[in-house]
Amino acid sequence: MPKLTGKRILLGITGGIAAYKAAELVRLLCKAGADVQVVMTEAAGRFITPMTLQALSGRPVRQGLFDPAYEAAMSHIELARWADLILIAPATADFLAHLAHGLANDLLSTLCLASEAPIALAPAMNQRMWLNQATVDNADVLVKRGILLWGPAAGEQACGESGPGRMVEPEGLLGSTVEFLSGGVLAGLRMLLTAGPTREPIDPVRFVGNRSSGKMGFALAKAFVLAGARVELVSGPVSLPTPSRVNRIDVETALDMEQAVMERVAECDIFVGCAAVADYRPEIMVEQKIKKSDERLALQLIRNPDIISQVAALPEAPFSVGFAAETEEPETYAEQKRQAKRLDMIAANLVGAASGGFERDENALTVLWDGGRCDLPMAEKEALAERLVGLIAEHYEKKYSAENS
Ligand code: C5P
Repeated sequence: MPKLTGKRILLGITGGIAAYKAAELVRLLCKAGADVQVVMTEAAGRFITPMTLQALSGRPVRQGLFDPAYEAAMSHIELARWADLILIAPATADFLAHLAHGLANDLLSTLCLASEAPIALAPAMNQRMWLNQATVDNADVLVKRGILLWGPAAGEQACGESGPGRMVEPEGLLGSTVEFLSGGVLAGLRMLLTAGPTREPIDPVRFVGNRSSGKMGFALAKAFVLAGARVELVSGPVSLPTPSRVNRIDVETALDMEQAVMERVAECDIFVGCAAVADYRPEIMVEQKIKKSDERLALQLIRNPDIISQVAALPEAPFSVGFAAETEEPETYAEQKRQAKRLDMIAANLVGAASGGFERDENALTVLWDGGRCDLPMAEKEALAERLVGLIAEHYEKKYSAENS
């Protein structure tokens, strides 16, 4: 049976040069068994004719908000309810801005506001427009609201420039649609994550800790759920709400975290160590509160177990992803850690006074794997998490399809 049989896709086309590729996308979606209803903006009609799209989809193309004949047949509200997925390809910078601000001044933006269906955008624009802070902010807002961004890809552009902003090719968009409607890129996979700091007790009231807020790990947990995975999150002490559909296990010390992870790791496909685990703990926890008496107090610290190294060294190790927070040369140190800990992937970031990382809502990461790297520029942690999940899914898939072939 074709992969999209019975699925109803509302394909929105906005006015950019990549609109000509929408014809191929309609053909591919229909061939995969989907019912496709095309909705075009007025500007899209300058790049591709409704006649072409009607012929390929077998349905009259909807364009205006105030067309009595169409409204009588299926009103825009009925159309909004009809869709299993609203896919907008290409989505221009202007359309992203409209959506981010909740404007509803044409049929397509009205449908997006009126629909409860998931919305996926395939952005396509000049690379400077994509990198413009206004577009970056709009994209962040949309991702935060749960809207999916498929792309953009990087490469040569119709305007003669080169960079991020190309629409993902129709084949790629078909793949994302199939993955999404069959449950997400990580459908059925089991994730185990660690997040937050650990607290290593000195006495009953004091501890050795660190500045990790847990925000990145929690954003990742949420993004994994959205990608269709089952998620267990072992969290150190943080003040963050548990994302929906995440099974959270609270721990305090590195030893507690180690135990919680090792009890569950055999059941997981992918392990992500996002926690800032204390490398050392006080050798003894003093039973009663230490009184101030002497001018100096020496704390004897001993090494904590390295949780992620233990996970990655298991005979049936899951796909293992670590983080490396560094105050200098993040890429060099992270790659050393990736190799020493035998990780499939590591995400490096700069921390410290000026560079962000801990406690902030934004971050930038350099992701490294065997023979490759990818820079994820400064963005809200939720948007960053979504991109990192995409990379993890891609490399997990590559590793296991290579092993099974
Ligand atoms: O060696 P470093 O602490 O910089 O490595 C960071 C990575 O190792 C993170 O993924 C962190 O969660 C993990 N880690 C661990 N157990 C430790 C220390 C770090 O799992 N004791």
